[in-house]
Amino acid sequence: MKTYYSEHFTIGENGHISLDGLDLVKVAEEFGTPAYVMSESHLRENCRAFTRAMRRNFGERCKVAYASKALCARFLYPILASEGIHADVVSGGELYTALKAEFDPKHLHFHGNNKTVAELEMAVDCGIGSIILDAMEEVDRLEAICAARDIHQRVLFRVKPGVHADTHAFISTGQNDSKFGFGIQDGEAMRMARHILEQEHLDFSGIHCHIGSQVFSLDGFARAAKIMFDFFCQIERELHITMDELIVGGGFGVKYMPEDEPGTFDEKIDTMGKVLREEAEKQGRVLPEIVIEPGRSMVCAAGCTLYTVGSVRDIRDGRCYVSVDGGMTDNPRFALYQANYDAVVANRAAAPRDKLQTIAGRCCESGDLVARDLQFQAAKAGDILCVFATGAYNFSMASNYNRVPRPPILLICDGVVREVVRRETYEDLIHNDL
Ligand code: LLP
Repeated sequence: MKTYYSEHFTIGENGHISLDGLDLVKVAEEFGTPAYVMSESHLRENCRAFTRAMRRNFGERCKVAYASKALCARFLYPILASEGIHADVVSGGELYTALKAEFDPKHLHFHGNNKTVAELEMAVDCGIGSIILDAMEEVDRLEAICAARDIHQRVLFRVKPGVHADTHAFISTGQNDSKFGFGIQDGEAMRMARHILEQEHLDFSGIHCHIGSQVFSLDGFARAAKIMFDFFCQIERELHITMDELIVGGGFGVKYMPEDEPGTFDEKIDTMGKVLREEAEKQGRVLPEIVIEPGRSMVCAAGCTLYTVGSVRDIRDGRCYVSVDGGMTDNPRFALYQANYDAVVANRAAAPRDKLQTIAGRCCESGDLVARDLQFQAAKAGDILCVFATGAYNFSMASNYNRVPRPPILLICDGVVREVVRRETYEDLIHNDL
């Protein structure tokens, strides 16, 4: 059987593309388009692959914490929990979703460079595992909240390792000029550590960094891991404390286009593992618990989006625009980062990819594209398009611009497809209009 993009997508004799054995043309007929479709088995494979790689490198003292921002909806959390995966949240809304899905709050940690008092209270009150502090003022706010309740809260704080990740500037975060975290070189991070330590109700447990997202080179991860562990040991020495957790972030790049070669999860984790073990030996300290926070790499490849082609505009001496019934409202990543996507005509996936086409959305914006200059089967009105690798930062960044309702998420599991997030209705759109 021919596969395309990943071994979960197969192309049948009738030329239709299937995900985990389910014909996506039929799925489109049954549920309508646009629709996000996800493979539960692929999600689980990713959970297991990360867990295996982490255990191999760090033994039992490690955690895989899924970064909820990549895709946050209730259906996901029971799957994560059953695979032993923890999660991070960055807002009251993500926290609420995880809690409503009965995810163990002890398995959550809370990020963000400007958490509100209400969010901090919500986190403390639900018994969240830890809070990653990211502002001096936040230390005081959290201390006051915990003092009022006479409870202790486990905290870490975010550090800038000063590593520049080779990715789009908007999603690079580890460099010194960043709104996130405290710099090591300028002494800010050590000042923050001292400030946290002065608080009576905050249990200072470790440090965190995240260098950026969709990072391909192993070098950035290796350098950040080394810098972070060295600084971890420096804090322990200078402040005479012991910490037990080092979060090295997420950011592992994934394959969007056929030419992308992001490497395997194993390569990335092994690279960090090697550096960290070497450093531990040099420092004469056993490694603390090592935590990674993959978002995109956990969910991206497990999802695709189905659209129906409405029209094809072949401009002489110009581009060929294939207009679909979705676009930047369900996938704003071209508009934001000029990100490109791969696609096939789902009902003729076996046909030669012989035409250069641009997939355009339906919003009143010229920048509303899904893919630019992509070589794939010549499309015509009524065709179903399957766009790959839309599991991350699509649903979670979707909007109702032009009052377009958001698509459903359909989950395939054991040969059955079901709606796990329903399609928005027009009534949903005016629900909050008073
Ligand atoms: N941990 C922290 C603290 C983060 O800020 C992020 C992502 C992650 C983990 C997960 O990174 P990942 O493994 O997903 O690369 N909207 C952008 C991506 C923004 C990522 C922000 N932080 C996009 O669509 O490319």
